[in-house]
Formats: sequence, C-alpha cells, structure tokens
Amino acid sequence: MKQHLIMVVSLAVLGGLLLGMAPDAMAAHELVGASKCKSCHKKIGNPYALWQKTEHAKAYETLASPEAKKIAADKGLGDPQKEEACLKCHVTRVFLGNPAVNEKGKYTDAEGVGCEACHGPGSDYKKKKIMKDHDAAVANGLLRTKTEEHCTQCHNDESPTFEAFDFEKQWAEIDHPIIPKEKAAK
Ligand code: HEC
Ligand code: HEC
Ligand code: HEC
Ligand code: HEC
Repeated sequence: MKQHLIMVVSLAVLGGLLLGMAPDAMAAHELVGASKCKSCHKKIGNPYALWQKTEHAKAYETLASPEAKKIAADKGLGDPQKEEACLKCHVTRVFLGNPAVNEKGKYTDAEGVGCEACHGPGSDYKKKKIMKDHDAAVANGLLRTKTEEHCTQCHNDESPTFEAFDFEKQWAEIDHPIIPKEKAAK
C-alpha cells in the first residue's frame, strides 16, 4: 500500500516535471496582434507603417460600410462584422481557424488582415533573440512564404466583390522590405 502510494506520487512528480519542461513548440502558437510587431518593426524600412496604409489594415472596418451591409443582406446574412462568412477573409483570427489570443498580447479583430495572417501567430517567435535567427524563428512558427497560393486563400471568387488577382502587381502594392541599416541611415 505504502509502495503503491510512493509509486503514484513519483509518477505525479515525473508528470509535473515533463509538463514543466514542455518546450514552447509543444503549445499551439498564439496571436499577439500587429501592434506587438509594431514595437520593433516601426524602425528600419517600417513594415508596420507600410502595412497600415494597405487595405488589409482596414479589412474589418470595411465590413461596417453600407456596401458590406448590402452584400450581407442580399445573402440573407446579418451584421457582416459578426458573420463568420465574411470574417473568415477579413479578420486574422477567423482566417487562421481561431487560434488562442495571447493574454499579454494586443490582438483585436479590428486589425483586419494583420501581420500574423501571413506570418503565423507570433507568441513564440516574437522574442528578439529568436527573430534575429531565421531558423529559430521558423521553428517557432514564423512563415514568410511569398506565394500566390497564400494570397488566393482569400483573393478568390468566393469573395463577393472579386474581379481578378494579379500576384506580381498586387504583391508590389503590399511589399514591405526591411531596408538595410546602411541604406536607411542618413
Ligand atoms: C522584440 C522585437 C521584435 C518583435 C516584437 C517582432 N520582431 Fe520581427 N524581427 C525583429 C528583428 C530584430 C528581426 C531581424 C531583422 C533583420 O534581420 O535585419 C526581425 C525579423 C522579422 C522577419 C524576417 C525574418 C526572417 O528570418 O526572414 C519577419 C517576417 C518578422 N520579423 C515578422 C514579425 C512579426 C509578424 C511580428 C509580430 C508577430 C514580429 N516580427 C515581432 C524583431 C522583432
Ligand atoms: C486573410 C485573407 C487575405 C490574405 C491571406 C491576403 N489578402 Fe489581400 N486582401 C484581403 C481583403 C479582405 C482585402 C480587402 C480589404 C478591404 O478593402 O477592406 C484585401 C486587399 C488587398 C489589396 C488591395 C485591394 C486589391 O484587391 O487590390 C491588395 C493589393 C492585396 N490584398 C494583396 C494581397 C497579396 C499580394 C496577398 C498575398 C501575399 C494577400 N493580399 C493575402 C484579404 C487577404
Ligand atoms: C474568400 C474570402 C472573402 C470572403 C468570404 C469575403 N470577402 Fe470581402 N473581400 C475579400 C477580398 C480579397 C477583397 C479585396 C477585393 C476583392 O478581391 O474582392 C474583399 C473586399 C471587400 C469589400 C470592399 C470592396 C471594394 O470595392 O472596396 C467589401 C465591402 C467586402 N469585401 C465585403 C464582404 C462581405 C460583406 C462579406 C461576407 C458576406 C465578404 N466580404 C466575404 C475577401 C473575402
Ligand atoms: C498579406 C500578407 C502579409 C502581411 C499582411 C504582412 N506580411 Fe510581412 N511579409 C509577407 C511575405 C510573403 C514576406 C516575404 C517577402 C519576400 O520573401 O520577399 C514578408 C516579409 C516581411 C519581413 C521581412 C522583409 C525583408 O526585407 O526580409 C518583415 C520584417 C515583415 N514581413 C514584417 C511584417 C509585419 C510587421 C507585418 C504587419 C505590420 C507584416 N509583415 C504583414 C507577407 C505579409
């Protein structure tokens, strides 16, 4: 009986140790929001400001427009800002299949199509040490896949206002390179 108890206790301790040691990679990556990325990415080339000028940053706001409401009403839907059928392409969280929102992050649906819709939820790769090391960042969930297929998950004829998608031309409109320090300085 006593031995049994020791066995149970040591199993519990071992289990606790294993859980305690579980690397970040075992937990699902969580959303932190574009304004978290901004804290570092407002410098050098300023990808944050470039993104903010794009339609992606307004994608949630757009769903409150009279045009959006009419499109939704014609489909028999309610408020487009609450309809999954619209949010799935206009809001990062719904597009990614509702990953958890990091409690220390700044994510809100109002950011529309944010950084993490293309780069993956950032809770585990956003630390400076990891970000500077490409392989470590990728191992912690960073994506930087510049492919037409990534875009056409949303830019397709399921979009009620879709006309056409030209990858090269439309990529040029949202490109946001880091300008090397030596060029940006002055
Ligand atoms: C603590 C500061 C910090 C935060 C927060 C941060 N980054 Fe970074 N990021 C960096 C640094 C530093 C680099 C490396 C820049 C370089 O190579 O010149 C980098 C590089 C990148 C790269 C290129 C990486 C590669 O290896 O190709 C991407 C993409 C990126 N960040 C996206 C993001 C996104 C999206 C977020 C928010 C979820 C974010 N970053 C948050 C500091 C940060
Ligand atoms: C999560 C869905 C989603 C993904 C992924 C996405 N977009 Fe978009 N994109 C949108 C939405 C929604 C709008 C319209 C926002 C608005 O008007 O409020 C938009 C608008 C745009 C616009 C401006 C309007 C237009 O149609 O010309 C460009 C340019 C653009 N996207 C390029 C891209 C490129 C290039 C990629 C891939 C690298 C991409 N997008 C990936 C959802 C997405
Ligand atoms: C399959 C992805 C997708 C879905 C689903 C979607 N949208 Fe969009 N939406 C887009 C993209 C991409 C754009 C950018 C222009 C384009 O390709 O239509 C856009 C643009 C818009 C615009 C701006 C059009 C303009 O001319 O500026 C409105 C308004 C809009 N969507 C409303 C809605 C409403 C309302 C719903 C739900 C009934 C919805 N969308 C569902 C992807 C989507
Ligand atoms: C519509 C998709 C999309 C969105 C939204 C987006 N990115 Fe990117 N980003 C990309 C792709 C694709 C690349 C890789 C480009 C390449 O390889 O040339 C990239 C590259 C980068 C890089 C590296 C640039 C370099 O010169 O190496 C940084 C940093 C970055 N993004 C940060 C951000 C931040 C911060 C946000 C939000 C404020 C954001 N991105 C929003 C698709 C996106």
